[in-house]
Amino acid sequence: MKGVKLKIYGLLFVLLMVVSCKKEVVKTTDIATQKANDLLAKMTLEEKIGQLNLRGTSSRQKTLPNELKQAVREGKVGAFLNVMKTEYVDELQKIAIEESPNKIPLIFARDVIHGFKTIFPIPLGLAASWDADITEKSSRVAAIEASSVGIRWTFAPMLDIARDSRWGRIAESPGEDPYLASKLGEAYVKGFQGDSLNDPTSMLACAKHFIGYGAAIGGRDYNTAIINKELMQNVYLPPFKAAFKAGSQTVMTSFNETNGIPASGDKKLLQEILRKQLNFDGFVVSDWNSVTEMIPHGFAKDEKHAAELGLNAGLNMEMTSKSYEHHIKELLSEGKISESQLNNLVVEILKVKFRMGLFENSGRNSKASKLYAKEHLALAKEAAIKSSVLLKNDKSILPLVKKTKIAVVGPLANKPREQLGTWTFDGEGQHSVTPIKAFENNNTNFSFTEGLSYSRDKSEVQFKKTIQNAKNSDVIVFIGGEEAILSGEAHSRANIDLPGAQEKLLKELSKTGKPIILVIMAGRPITLTNIINNVDAVLMTWHPGTMGGEAIYEMLFGIQEPSGRLPVTWPKTVGQLPLFYNHKNTGRPVIPEKFVQMDSIPVGAWQSSLGNTSHYLDVGFTPHFPFGYGLGYTSYMYSNLQVSTQKLTNTNQIKISVDVKNTGERDGEELVQLYVQDVVGSVTRPVKELKGFEKVKLKSGALKTVSFALTVDDLKYYNSNLKYGVEKGDFNLWVGNNASNGLRSGFSYE
Ligand code: GLC
Repeated sequence: MKGVKLKIYGLLFVLLMVVSCKKEVVKTTDIATQKANDLLAKMTLEEKIGQLNLRGTSSRQKTLPNELKQAVREGKVGAFLNVMKTEYVDELQKIAIEESPNKIPLIFARDVIHGFKTIFPIPLGLAASWDADITEKSSRVAAIEASSVGIRWTFAPMLDIARDSRWGRIAESPGEDPYLASKLGEAYVKGFQGDSLNDPTSMLACAKHFIGYGAAIGGRDYNTAIINKELMQNVYLPPFKAAFKAGSQTVMTSFNETNGIPASGDKKLLQEILRKQLNFDGFVVSDWNSVTEMIPHGFAKDEKHAAELGLNAGLNMEMTSKSYEHHIKELLSEGKISESQLNNLVVEILKVKFRMGLFENSGRNSKASKLYAKEHLALAKEAAIKSSVLLKNDKSILPLVKKTKIAVVGPLANKPREQLGTWTFDGEGQHSVTPIKAFENNNTNFSFTEGLSYSRDKSEVQFKKTIQNAKNSDVIVFIGGEEAILSGEAHSRANIDLPGAQEKLLKELSKTGKPIILVIMAGRPITLTNIINNVDAVLMTWHPGTMGGEAIYEMLFGIQEPSGRLPVTWPKTVGQLPLFYNHKNTGRPVIPEKFVQMDSIPVGAWQSSLGNTSHYLDVGFTPHFPFGYGLGYTSYMYSNLQVSTQKLTNTNQIKISVDVKNTGERDGEELVQLYVQDVVGSVTRPVKELKGFEKVKLKSGALKTVSFALTVDDLKYYNSNLKYGVEKGDFNLWVGNNASNGLRSGFSYE
């Protein structure tokens, strides 16, 4: 009996400890809110309105206007965007914490999207690394560099699922898959914010753009998004859910309307979904003027109405436009918003400032020496290699042997700024290692004739000299693609072929009979159908960042292996877009063996002779390269797929294993991917969904058993009644190295 008593006391003690710890955690979280409420009680209405004001300035501003300093002195600004002179940051912060009514510190923000000074591959490139670790590390480096000049808030990660390569901002996106995007979103937030928000190197993350920005009709930026509720819940929201779970303290509303409602005024989105369903407890910032853009949207009749809509939706901070500053007093006096609504919006901002420790230490970590630190540059090179995707390598022309005489051609072979890509306001070309610079640094046997001066160049004046030079080489390395300006915000393209006369030059070069290696720098998949048969190898490096040239050199000569895999489906032609692997099966899915290509249709064929399924007569039904695709410098064999049970229940898990053997001559890294299909649902389900992936390094001849585990939680989705769960039925699964192949098995959920 005594023993039993002891056990009961012991249990009680443990229970008490757990409760008190939990209370401790809750108490800690409440400290920031408590302090915010205490401060709120001392604030005037002007100061409260000031906290909702994110003032934009130009990073090229030559002086600090007295009007700006006075506004800070009167507590009329909560945060700044683009103040890039550190002396201005220091001066404005000093005014705020010494002269403003309640000494409330400012937050300084910037778009630090894929690096600050050391530039990493564009986010679509980092997505191609499928590597959460390097994504987190590169974001940590960006935060260390940016915080050293006072930037403590970045407008990243961009988590818009993108299924249309015409869209310019696909360059900033994590690609087309919610599972991969969620892993990356978590990594970005951890990297930017670090282990503690009050560390001076911590930079607030901002999950953006909430929501549906990547679904713009036609890939036309800022355009209308129509997203049904199941798609919203199962595709577009998951990356944001992951970012909030990782602790992102801010979120940005998107420019676009979704289903007729602009995000900055969408109360259901910002209250029901963001606050209640996703438990977001930071603050919401608009996009640039997106509050007042509700007027051209036709959703607000004037600036005052726009402010009313944003405030009632729960949008905390207005970026750059001034509708809040101009109209909150009137709206309060007219009872269109309440004092408690205003107070809540202010407290949500203040508590983040308290969490950041800004009231105790608003200074910046002045380890400015960290800019371009060699370990940062080394990481940037590693990221560029892990992001690069080898799409074609006929006759294993790559890797080259060192003594190969190469003719380097192309408009992006020596463009230090272009290789940085979009959203690199602070990157500096003089620190870039271009491919030409890397070939020089490594005593490569090469000659360089550009052939075209820039990616859109249509002039053929250099062709003759270029072709002559190519004839005197063993191999042609053509480094082309898109200038940085051809992707990114507001830069959608309706034709995504290589711009300018690049295709023509490639065709002329192929007449020399020399092997051609096409290295692409671009912000999106480029349609290659017109020239794919003129080149022997294709290496996609996206815009690879500061160390892109060194990375390209090491990959071309086999010092490193490109290990990226596609985070987006690569189309044959722009006419196929939007194109993505996790599509629905439709009632008339393609029957490959029945497909008749347009040129093979007999003249006078009878109307219904072709088989009525979902495809294009001319380009068929497959992409040029599927999601998850990428080659390496060796080969692999998958065998022995094992599934631990064919029956999944609420309490067990399915262990899946496969043997992967490196059957080539070289060591390599392979990305093993797990896809699952829920065959029947109360809402139709995608033909495949990524549910796991693992990078494995394998020496030549080595074999490794790669394992995954699936539980019922991995299969839950929102059904037609928005119930989150799994429905009983059959599932298929595949394990392979891209979305179009794999060893197949299956199970059922009872
Ligand atoms: C831009 C972008 C947004 C960016 C903001 C501040 O228009 O849409 O992603 O963070 O304005 O530069």
